[in-house]
Amino acid sequence: MAIWLLLFSLLFSSNSITIAKIVPAGFPSSIVQPEQLSLATTKTSTNKLYEEKYFTQILDHFNYNPQSYNTFQHRYLINDKHWGGAKNNSPIFVYTGNEGDIEWFTQNTGFMFETAPHFKALLVFIEHRYYGKSIPFGGNKERAYSNSTTLGYLSSTQALADYATLIIDLKNNLTAIDSPVVVFGGSYGGMLAAWFRLKYPHVAIGALASSAPILNFDNITSPFSFNNIITQDFRSESENCYKVIKGSWQKIEETAAKPGGLEILRKSFRICKNYISVNSLEGWLGTAYTYTAMTDYPTPTNFLNPLPAYPIKQMCKAIDHPKTGNNTFEKLYGAANIYYNYTGDAKCFDLIDDSDPHGMASGWTWQACTEMILLTDGNNVDSIFPASNYSYIDRLLYCKDRFDIEPRPSWIPTEFGARHIHRVLKRFGSNMIFFNGLRDPWSGGGVLKDISKSVVAIVAKKGAHHVDLRFSTSEDPKWLQDLRKREVHIISKWISEYYHSLTYSS
Ligand SMILES: *[C@@H]1O[C@H](CO)[C@@H](O)[C@H](O)[C@H]1NC(C)=O
Ligand SMILES: *[C@@H]1O[C@H](CO)[C@@H](O)[C@H](O)[C@H]1NC(C)=O
Ligand SMILES: *[C@@H]1O[C@H](CO)[C@@H](O)[C@H](O)[C@H]1NC(C)=O
Ligand SMILES: *[C@@H]1O[C@H](CO)[C@@H](O)[C@H](O)[C@H]1NC(C)=O
Ligand SMILES: *[C@@H]1O[C@H](CO)[C@@H](O)[C@H](O)[C@H]1NC(C)=O
Ligand SMILES: *[C@@H]1O[C@H](CO)[C@@H](O)[C@H](O)[C@H]1NC(C)=O
Repeated sequence: MAIWLLLFSLLFSSNSITIAKIVPAGFPSSIVQPEQLSLATTKTSTNKLYEEKYFTQILDHFNYNPQSYNTFQHRYLINDKHWGGAKNNSPIFVYTGNEGDIEWFTQNTGFMFETAPHFKALLVFIEHRYYGKSIPFGGNKERAYSNSTTLGYLSSTQALADYATLIIDLKNNLTAIDSPVVVFGGSYGGMLAAWFRLKYPHVAIGALASSAPILNFDNITSPFSFNNIITQDFRSESENCYKVIKGSWQKIEETAAKPGGLEILRKSFRICKNYISVNSLEGWLGTAYTYTAMTDYPTPTNFLNPLPAYPIKQMCKAIDHPKTGNNTFEKLYGAANIYYNYTGDAKCFDLIDDSDPHGMASGWTWQACTEMILLTDGNNVDSIFPASNYSYIDRLLYCKDRFDIEPRPSWIPTEFGARHIHRVLKRFGSNMIFFNGLRDPWSGGGVLKDISKSVVAIVAKKGAHHVDLRFSTSEDPKWLQDLRKREVHIISKWISEYYHSLTYSS
């Protein structure tokens, strides 16, 4: 969290004149639910949820220079508790890790743990290079992150090649050559799962790509969709709530411009240190709205911060029926408390938090400066954030300054495709599920319509960021239970078709 915030406040601190550009959302970050994890752990007796292993991975899969042959220790987690074994060709479910510690992502993939007994599946969670404990250059994080020469090996294509190499080697070791592999991922991990299926169809028979904004590049989908969805989420809750937030940026700017104004803002929002800038305050508020929209789940959760069920409703309640006072700042303070202080433990608020509890280092900053040019920053006149046109120049300037590199905004669609995806995948692709929850701002860059009989879109009107993959709870609404059943049904079909061809086509 700290890092996404940091990334975006840094990315946009360059152009902060008058109404600062609010730049919410760091990457399609991923959602955690530790309380559910411990529940699952106790449910499955005292057994550990997984075993941690390391694999000697090659540094550069796409080059034959001597330095390409360097290796690093690549971490993966494995759980064979329910596996039906190699003899039965029982399936292998692989999570394609995202931009952080892989153990963190296991906490978000209840779907895999909960369906493993049904499928008799082996579970494997593979960490993404440069994150968590999978650090090249001898595991030396500082060295690996020194500059573009050492960071150059951090890319989605290298990560996918890592996954293919590891899976093939693991299957050999287990003599499970004919076990079907299904890949799963949420957010950036969901993009990787989808791309893995397209690039390595001989390794994975199918992919569940949850909340994967694979179309959010190069103006294929609108740079305004992300903030439009956040706007819509709040506005559909309450017009007043939307108006208060929308009107607040101007008030913040005006207050800050007055003598002693920063101090008024600091006190209004109970900011800890004397340090406050308009940018960081606006970023802090923007982050709360954005992440609340992403995690507008139907049950209480723990993203990075604990939240009640349907947190947007709660935020708007704090604004529409304020307990903290009737002026705009008091209302917003009440709303911010839903996101930053739901436990009631916060003594004061830190606008900038640079802790890194989830092993993200600053890898996403590099990825966002090279290939992950996700267009999310446009704000039309109705936006809940100040109006602004999407500007690629801001990103370019930041990346030149930070790494002395130029982003390649067209590379991802060139490498994996995205333009005219329906026409392209209709005849080329198969066995993919694209899940999206329409309350999730990232759904604007997702695949929302079926492409073919076996490349299907599952869309949940009331769903948020990869809600399907979360651990189930007894309070899950019926639509959520139903869509998970549908996913299980589709995956079962892929597997039985695979077994059929294994029996009859060899
Ligand atoms: C990049 O970092 C590596 C490792 O710390 C160092 O050896 C190299 O000299 C640096 N290169 C540049 C261009 O600064
Ligand atoms: C497969 O076995 C070899 C030999 O024991 C080991 O070095 C390698 O790490 C194993 N591969 C995986 C993916 O665990
Ligand atoms: C997307 O469209 C905008 C506005 O038309 C343009 O400024 C921008 O350069 C385009 N491409 C990218 C990659 O942002
Ligand atoms: C806000 O204003 C309403 C109506 O004027 C009043 O009833 C309420 O007590 C006020 N709330 C606070 C917290 O001051
Ligand atoms: C957090 O919530 C508690 C309980 O409502 C409150 O006493 C405390 O002042 C809040 N912290 C901040 C920084 O507002
Ligand atoms: C965005 O661009 C359009 C067309 O160039 C322009 O009319 C509008 O004023 C711009 N909006 C902002 C907020 O800069």
